Amino acid sequence: MAITRESITAALHDIKDPYLGNSLSAAITDFSSGEQSVLLSLTLGYPAAGITADLAQQITDRIQQLHGDLEVHVQFNWQIESFTSGKGQPVSGVKNVIAVASGKGGVGKSTVAVNLALAMKVEGARVGLLDADIYGPSQGSMLGVPEGTRPEIYQQSLMEPIEAHGIQCMSMSFMASDRTPMVWRGPMASGALQQLVGQTRWDNLDYLIVDMPPGTGDIQLTLCQQVALSGAVIVTTPQDIALLDAQKGIEMFRQVNVPVLGIVENMSVHICSECGHKETIFGEGGGLVIAEEYGTRLLASLPLSIEIRQLLDSGQPPVAVDPESEISLVFRDIARAVAAAICSDSADAESQPVIRIVND
Ligand SMILES: Nc1ncnc2c1ncn2[C@@H]1O[C@H](COP(=O)(O)OP(=O)(O)OP(=O)(O)O)[C@@H](O)[C@H]1O
Ligand SMILES: [Mg+2]
Repeated sequence: MAITRESITAALHDIKDPYLGNSLSAAITDFSSGEQSVLLSLTLGYPAAGITADLAQQITDRIQQLHGDLEVHVQFNWQIESFTSGKGQPVSGVKNVIAVASGKGGVGKSTVAVNLALAMKVEGARVGLLDADIYGPSQGSMLGVPEGTRPEIYQQSLMEPIEAHGIQCMSMSFMASDRTPMVWRGPMASGALQQLVGQTRWDNLDYLIVDMPPGTGDIQLTLCQQVALSGAVIVTTPQDIALLDAQKGIEMFRQVNVPVLGIVENMSVHICSECGHKETIFGEGGGLVIAEEYGTRLLASLPLSIEIRQLLDSGQPPVAVDPESEISLVFRDIARAVAAAICSDSADAESQPVIRIVND
């Protein structure tokens, strides 16, 4: 059988993009063939370093099934576009801004935000992390940035983000010491957040992950209204009280037309480090129920793990320490799913009719 671009496209028809669900043949951007070889380039809309070897193998196997011992070379790359929603302003130097939020405190937003940011970097994107918790910033210590580190000032107006574990970071903790509590009223805190977002010299980022403070107050609203967000990730623990607060968080983003890209259920199950016994301390299955109720996805259920806490307390997030560990692979799966959801949810939104209510 002659090898043409059409025959290769047809051969790959049944191999699906694992996150978008459509045929991978749609991602073919380049094709060339020789006597005994074929070279194929595919371009995805999201960073995917963790799955390309497996996909390339599937493609190679399929082509070799049809064309015998042909030498098959498969290359993957990604082109990350900007998709934003809501009425806010784009952030200079950033393609996509993703908020990590929940209605409730202490459920693991900062833990998810920092590991998601690092996982997106490992998958092949340029990433920044903004700590929007003005009163209780935690990213400086989670990323192991030494106490007293201050951003350099560029042309007397912009702050250079602090580079840590290969991502660009900005946090209120780079402005104040650990022992200086932030005693600001709401408007001052919102103003400080706007400065952190707008006056940081983000350098050519595909994704800026925003670690939100708990609740649905002034700071959260400021961010949703003033910054063009690509979507939000909601973190919850499985117990009812946290789920109720997660719902409030989802409603807030819906009201400002920001897509909820998915739910991360944190502290789902405790695995005893002594005997391996599994216990669902905070209940079971709540994240999935909420995801279904709001028509979004459950991105992952993360275990309650002493290793996660110890690593973060020592400024060594799991994904930075060992990107191939079991827990890091879960974060990398979340990262790909979130990045792919930005493409697919935006495509869905565009294809929906715009309904205008006209008063007569
Ligand atoms: N899956 C987990 N296993 C073990 N410890 C965890 C896990 N997730 C978070 N923690 C720990 O729980 C504490 C609270 O987590 P984190 O700071 O991420 O929550 P948060 O939602 O950002 O809190 P806040 O609302 O105060 O900003 C931290 O000490 C963190 O190390
Ligand atoms: Mg936090």
